Amino acid sequence: MTTATAPNAPILDKGLANTIAAETQMSFIDGSKGVLEYVGYDIDSLARNSTFEEVVFLLWNRRLPKRAELDSFTAELRREYDLPAGAWKLLVEMPRDAAPMHALRTLVSALSLFDAEADDNSPDANRRKAIRLVAKTPALIANFDRHRKGKSLVKPDSTHSIANSFLSMLNGAAPTDAVARALDVCLILHADHGLNASTFAARVTISTLSDLYSAMVTAIGTLKGPLHGGANEEVMVMLNEIESMDRVEPYIRGKLARKDRIMGFGHRVYKALDPRAGYLKTFAKQVAADTGNMHLYEMSTRIEQIMAAEVASKGIYPNVDFYSATTYHSIGIDLDLFTCMFAMSRIAGWSGHCIEQLDGNKLIRPMADYTGPHALRYQPIEKR
Ligand code: CMC
Repeated sequence: MTTATAPNAPILDKGLANTIAAETQMSFIDGSKGVLEYVGYDIDSLARNSTFEEVVFLLWNRRLPKRAELDSFTAELRREYDLPAGAWKLLVEMPRDAAPMHALRTLVSALSLFDAEADDNSPDANRRKAIRLVAKTPALIANFDRHRKGKSLVKPDSTHSIANSFLSMLNGAAPTDAVARALDVCLILHADHGLNASTFAARVTISTLSDLYSAMVTAIGTLKGPLHGGANEEVMVMLNEIESMDRVEPYIRGKLARKDRIMGFGHRVYKALDPRAGYLKTFAKQVAADTGNMHLYEMSTRIEQIMAAEVASKGIYPNVDFYSATTYHSIGIDLDLFTCMFAMSRIAGWSGHCIEQLDGNKLIRPMADYTGPHALRYQPIEKR
């Protein structure tokens, strides 16, 4: 089954890089031209003009809302910010030294225990659950961080946006408008991205007619890997290891010589600049300048120059994780929360994809090319 010999014969497509496994109306990517659109709107114009809440409406409804619709959708989200009592109790039982992505995966899973609609896969129930998931995830992340630092838990502020309420919980103080906007832009840029690994994983789970919470747990576990959402943390680890401008060149060239990957570069789909990275670069510069982190931005641009000279010919450019690391650090988010920030946004895309998958669902079940032996004779254990 390794090569196609007849029409419709299965082919082995490692990494599924050349397989179209779903239809979607949420996001469009042209990797060769560096284009990303949500429902036909260029990501750059959304990052400049929209808000995370409006983008979630757009992704789920396939159109921009009118004012009254956005107000009503935002109010619906805000009514769901708070956590069920059981989740607050569970939060304080979590081990303080747990890695935040493990804690988030567990806490999102736990939300299903307190949702009477957990197993209802009707479109209306799934839409209500998607709202709950997007609305409650910020309180889970911020309060796990408070708990592990020995701080008291803080309730979400349902008078503010998701970005603002999250930062208020995280820091115990309201953010400046500029910092809240910086997070809001990061949430917009991460909300959806075609059939990336975690979205595919979520669609596989829901395609079995499991439930939305299980699909989110699958997706969070998939996002966590350093080849996917975990790369933003690795970028910050790299910047911390490099420490200063004079060490950038030997560090990057040394890694490339050892054939190590430079985190925050390269993408399965983009062979031109990731359009999210283009906007984030400008944005990261401003945020870094405002917060006294220009050295991080300057080290990043130097890494980009070296990578351009060394590997741009292979189609390797900065991806969304590269400049989001500097942005998150500049707005005061701990390194090990970076991937949680990605999840907080992508949960909108994951849940939208699951609802899309269930509309005309077909079980996702590819085949494997068996490469082991055949026709072996069973030996009794004493004779092996
Ligand atoms: N640094 C150095 N070389 C690289 C890198 C990198 N970051 N990425 C790919 N390459 C090289 C790779 O060594 C290979 O070279 P050669 O052909 O000489 O062996 C060539 O480029 C193709 O690599 P590949 O692994 O076949 O390409 P892929 O499409 O499977 O990989 C990727 C995509 C994202 C896994 C990879 O680029 C990578 O590991 N990047 C670093 C991790 C990262 O930043 N991930 C975040 C992705 S964006 C956010 C998200 O959507 O999750």
